Amino acid sequence: MLPSNLFALLSVATTFTLSNALPAPQSLPELHYAQIGERRLNNEHLSTRATKTEYVAYAVAGINQMMTWYDAATGLWQEAWWPSANVVTMLANFHQYFPDMAKGITDQVFTTTFAVAEKTFPGFLNGFYDDELWWVLAWIQVYDVTNDEKYLDKAAAIFEDSKNAWGATPCGGLWWDKAHTQIGAVENELYLSAAAKLANRRPNTPSGGYYFNEALKAYEWFISSGLINSDNVINNGLNIATCQNDGSYVFSYNQGILLSGLAELTWSTGDSKYNDLANTIALAAMKNLTNAAGILTDPCDRGCNSDTEQFKGVFGRAIQFLVNRATVLDDATRATYVNFLKVNADSIWAYDQVDNQLGLVWSGPKGTASIQTQSSALDAIVGAACVS
Ligand SMILES: *[C@@H]1O[C@H](CO)[C@@H](O)[C@H](O)[C@H]1NC(C)=O
Repeated sequence: MLPSNLFALLSVATTFTLSNALPAPQSLPELHYAQIGERRLNNEHLSTRATKTEYVAYAVAGINQMMTWYDAATGLWQEAWWPSANVVTMLANFHQYFPDMAKGITDQVFTTTFAVAEKTFPGFLNGFYDDELWWVLAWIQVYDVTNDEKYLDKAAAIFEDSKNAWGATPCGGLWWDKAHTQIGAVENELYLSAAAKLANRRPNTPSGGYYFNEALKAYEWFISSGLINSDNVINNGLNIATCQNDGSYVFSYNQGILLSGLAELTWSTGDSKYNDLANTIALAAMKNLTNAAGILTDPCDRGCNSDTEQFKGVFGRAIQFLVNRATVLDDATRATYVNFLKVNADSIWAYDQVDNQLGLVWSGPKGTASIQTQSSALDAIVGAACVS
């Protein structure tokens, strides 16, 4: 079931002039910090927000702890497959804004993980389209900070596997898995964002509009799929029998993954409607998923499986992207986003952190830390640093 206006859309798309001028990241004053190692900073007064210097210090301390879980033989953290793609993305994001602080680690991690992670799944391909697309986004983010084409080549190569499968479900869009058990929001959002980002970085390669057409196709499908419900939040997936919204969980990551892709579609088209939708979903999610203190929660804060422990960071990272890179953002919405990131980062450091280990529930208390809980919380902390 493809959107009926797809053909009209595609013919418009092929004549579209793409802009490959990416809005520059917000410039930041140069920072000179020494590594703080194991130093622990606590913000005792949560009525005031921590400073940029403190957020960077929290990030460095958390990343140093996280690197004790890195295995240079596999290029993964705690042998976790797609979560490691999100760790790479988080590190590349930190590197983009604080290169002097990040380089000591990222110079090694990018090259090592790139070289050896394929020992686990050659070509970064496995049985799950979402897993594959997380790696697409990771290597795009690494390309953005290194300008090394080999990372973008890899992202484009991984993307082909999903592109070849798009549209094959009874409801259109992309299956979650190659066993065809689910049609989820996650892989369809990842596809949209991956295509939009590839379109902006390779507008004419391998041919004009090659990725842009995919991004528009994915957008049209997504907004007509029913996955965005009347509260402007996104449920887990579609009922395969009816192709209707399954009414299942509103996971935090599903409110985040598509935001940067929508913002980038506004870069390439000049049409604000995509970025407007990103703001609508972001604000609705904050209303739906934060507690009275403004701290982000997720249905899986009560425990689902280890991979779900990473969900909230994906949303935090997306909010930071909107603050730093969105071209449609009014002052009030920007202030809401910035405050969200700072309040959550402050709460994590005060209540969800022991000895630089970061737990699952951002309002605390800290339970067992894992690579998923650590990198997810670091997304909020890095986000706060990047918008301070
Ligand atoms: C969040 O959204 C879901 C799905 O629309 C809804 O059922 C739920 O009541 C909302 N929760 C809050 C706190 O707004």
